[in-house]
Amino acid sequence: MIPLQVRDVEEGSRDRLGRPLHDLRISVTDRCNFRCTYCMPKELFGANYRFMPRSELLSFEEIVRLAEIFVAHGVGKIRLTGGEPLLRQGLEDLVRMLSAVAGLDDLTLTTNGSLLSLDRARRLRAAGLERLTVSLDAVDDTVFSSMNDVGFSVEPVLRSIEDADRAGLAPIKINMVVKRGVNDHEIVPMAERFRNSGHIVRFIEYMDVGNTNGWRMDDVVSAREIVDTIGRVHPLRALEPNYPGEVARRWRYVDGAGEIGVIASVTQPFCGACTRARLSAEGKLYTCLFANTGFDLRDLMRSGASDEALSATIGSLWSRRDDRYSELRSSHTPPQSRIEMSYIGG
Ligand code: GTP
Ligand code: 5AD
Ligand code: SF4
Ligand code: SF4
Repeated sequence: MIPLQVRDVEEGSRDRLGRPLHDLRISVTDRCNFRCTYCMPKELFGANYRFMPRSELLSFEEIVRLAEIFVAHGVGKIRLTGGEPLLRQGLEDLVRMLSAVAGLDDLTLTTNGSLLSLDRARRLRAAGLERLTVSLDAVDDTVFSSMNDVGFSVEPVLRSIEDADRAGLAPIKINMVVKRGVNDHEIVPMAERFRNSGHIVRFIEYMDVGNTNGWRMDDVVSAREIVDTIGRVHPLRALEPNYPGEVARRWRYVDGAGEIGVIASVTQPFCGACTRARLSAEGKLYTCLFANTGFDLRDLMRSGASDEALSATIGSLWSRRDDRYSELRSSHTPPQSRIEMSYIGG
């Protein structure tokens, strides 16, 4: 297998800031069974909210067709997201189809862990899923259920993490979004719950994605503060990134109890190394998490475009890309209408 970095340099498309196209995040549904207050607040995502009808969703064949074209442009890693991706019927079939795409080195999934069982984890593994990320914002039941806002408790999510481990999807990454005054007192308990487990907790700075979560800078707990908080109890040492452009900064426990990651998208933006494209469940391509418009690849596909035409469009969209929202955040007025995290999957 050719190392990714080499392949990027030799073959991949580059954007206006010289960044290769390396990761594709594919949202397979905009629906979720949680109503996390920072992502899908109940007041806005209520009974009358209009989710995408099934006919609007890309079919698995359409997703795979696009994935193959993206791989030809340099993509080596695909992450399936939602909403909650396990809500999409037959997801195992999509995983099987994607894992057969030649040239793909990494196939993974981000889930809230509420719909996973040992059987499902095994089926996903057998279909070709290589690893898994589970979102979990607290180990305390009261805090967690009020954050997911549907009263879901911690225990089944912990069980899912163990099931994924038993199914061979380890090491599991566990994403915790930290919001000041809401779950920052859970930073140390979360770290302690997963010390010595082989799993990697990633503490994520709360971001101003979408238009609905009422984000304020005061709600952000910085990565520095998170590392200091944990390090005071369990000393930490910085680790080198696993690969250039890794989103999380890695730290290991000095006593050998494993590692953690911090994702400092607000205080230490990483746009300079951002190699990610995002495909919505209805087939729109976004070149930034904070974009307000996406390019309708589904429309192009359904109007009969050839693979060559699709490839040329993707190449030209990427070559014109100059997004670096997080780096400009403090000096720019945000776009009026931004896509929601539940629509594009983080
Ligand atoms: P690994 O491949 O396992 O390292 O995962 P990843 O780097 O793809 O991370 P993951 O998809 O788990 O992302 C974790 C979180 O980081 C997301 O949910 C977002 O909150 C944030 N994040 C990931 N990518 C971006 C990005 O391109 N921009 C910004 N601003 N935040 C991002
Ligand atoms: N800030 C940071 N991360 C977020 N996520 C969702 N909304 C936000 C936000 N406002 C994360 C979730 C999950 C992933 C899909 O995105 O915790 O891990
Ligand atoms: Fe929560 Fe993820 Fe669902 Fe958003 S998509 S409501 S973060 S579980
Ligand atoms: Fe990439 Fe946009 Fe996030 Fe910057 S803000 S890292 S360009 S997705």
